[in-house]
Formats: sequence, C-alpha cells, structure tokens
Amino acid sequence: MTTFPAIRHRRLRTTPWLRDLVAETHLAPSHFILPLFICENENARTTQNGSGIKRYSIDETKNVLEKAANLGIKAVMLFPVIDPSLKDNQGSVALHDDNLIMRALRALSLENFPLSLCVDVALDPYTSHGHDGILKDTHSKSGMIIDNDQTVDTLKTLSLHLAAAGADALCPSDMMDGRIGAIRSILEENHFDHMVLISYAAKYASCFYGPFRNLVGAQGLKGICDKKTYQMDVRNGKEALSEILFDRNEGADMIIVKPGLPYLDIIARASDIVHTPILAYHVSGEYAMIKTAAAQGLLDEKAAFLETAIAFKRAGAQSIISYAAMELAEWVKS
Ligand code: PBG
Repeated sequence: MTTFPAIRHRRLRTTPWLRDLVAETHLAPSHFILPLFICENENARTTQNGSGIKRYSIDETKNVLEKAANLGIKAVMLFPVIDPSLKDNQGSVALHDDNLIMRALRALSLENFPLSLCVDVALDPYTSHGHDGILKDTHSKSGMIIDNDQTVDTLKTLSLHLAAAGADALCPSDMMDGRIGAIRSILEENHFDHMVLISYAAKYASCFYGPFRNLVGAQGLKGICDKKTYQMDVRNGKEALSEILFDRNEGADMIIVKPGLPYLDIIARASDIVHTPILAYHVSGEYAMIKTAAAQGLLDEKAAFLETAIAFKRAGAQSIISYAAMELAEWVKS
C-alpha cells in the first residue's frame, strides 16, 4: 500500500500552479444565472426590502442584461413584481396578455441580447394571498387548499403565453403534481417543441425564501394554507429523487434543487441517478446571510460566494442561480 511518507498529500498543495493543475472543480461566467425582479414603477423599485436585492423597470432591465451579457452570463431568470391592486384570489392577471411579464418579455426579446430569458412559472406573484396556485375552500375539515389540477390548467395557459411572448426557457416553480407533463404537451401541441423546461423539481418548503417573498409582495400568505402542502418536507431526501425522476419523465430538460447549500446532499444524490443537468438555486435568504455577515465584517464576501459556488459544482450541479451572479462572473473572469 502506498502511504506516508511515499505519499504526502501536502505535496500537491504547495504552489498555485500545482493546485490549479489538479483542481477538480472550475467556475466560468457561463455557469451563473442571474435572477431579476422586474417592476412597473418608481415606487415599486425603491421599496426597501433589506436584502440588497434590487428591482428594475423594464428599461433598466435592458441595461442590466447588457451588463450581464458583457460579463459572459448566458441566462437570467425573470420574476415580475405585480401591482397589488391587480392581484386576486385566482391570480387572474397572470393570463392577461398585457401584464408586466408579457410586456417585459416582448421588449427584452426584441433586444436580442446574447443571453436566454428564463421565466419563473407559478402564480405567487399574481395571487392576492401569495400562494403559488389557486386557493379553494374544500368546505370540509381540510379547509383551504391549493387546487392542484385547476392550478395546472392555469399554468399550462400561462406557459403558452410566456412562450409566445419570447421566453427562451420556462421554469415551473409551483410544485403542483403533473405540471411538467401538462406544460410539455401544450407546448408540443403549439409548435414550441424547442422550448426548454427547467423544472424546480426538488423545491423545499424552506424558511430561506423570506427576502424573495418580500420582493414580489407574496410574504403575507394570510395564514390560510401552508406552502408545506405543496413544497417538499425538509426532512425528506428520497422523495426529492422521486420528484426529479417524475419531472424528467414528464419532459423536463433540466432540474433545479432549491434552496442551495442546505441541500447539497440532494444535488449529489440526484447527480448520481439522473443524467439531466442540475441547477442549484442559492436562494434569497442564503444570499442575504452572506451579505449581512460580510457587512458586519464577519466574512469575506467574495471568498464566501466563490466557495459556495464551488460547493454546488463539486456536489454535481452544472449551473448556479445566484443573486451574486454578476459579481461571481467578474471574479471568476479575473
Ligand atoms: C415561488 C418562488 C419562490 C422562490 C422562487 N420562486 C418563493 C416561494 O416558493 O415561496 C424563492 C427564491 C428565493 O428565495 O430566492 N414561485
């Protein structure tokens, strides 16, 4: 057996060139997807949310896309911030042809930036209660529930509208059962056979989405129903693998594991069983944790974001959705 001192592990750590030569994990600007919140007006833009994540008008978003493209970022993930007066119980505004996300997609796709426009598909930005689907009173002891099949029907139509408006990839994040298959069929039936579906397949009912919910105005949730009735139980791992296999079989081209760092085990296990590209979502609360710790001088922000990104890749993710995507792209370039 080869052992000490014939082998000294420290030998390959002695100089930067040796460390670079044997590094197993690498980062490039094209590995990052930047989430962007698009809002209608000045007022929505300036609202304080504490996380440091900004909202942009459609025009400002054009500048951000240009900057991101110049940094080598290949994709952004768009979320609309809908005026609260337009929201209702069913999220009806989601299907209005002139709503914010449709206008944004039409305007941004015309610009022909060399990056893909990925769009979240779920009803939470559009519903008055902030749930990802349609709320229904069962008039039984189950109380208020999110109606799976009715929500899937709406998401199908929403997906078709988003595809027609210029989305390059659709990302269902609602966690309804059967939605990937339903969306895939309606896309196929309408000649969107090249539309990429990126499924939030393993999405946990996590506390780390706090800043995001605040940004899209979906933080209330009104105490009437719990996201735990559709998002995954944080205690489960095998269930995530089942979700991932289902979504792949229904037609997902890529899958997302979300949140990120607390779920590296899921990324690693999934990458062993599926050959579908896996995206890690370093979510808003995780981003805020690093920013807050760095602002207090407890962490080196750059080192913390880079180490986190490396961890995702090492675990088996191909790409990383991160609010620090621009900074990361800049850091890994230099
Ligand atoms: C909802 C959605 C959420 C996020 C992305 N899509 C929040 C939720 O499920 O409540 C969270 C992302 C983040 O925290 O950065 N469709």
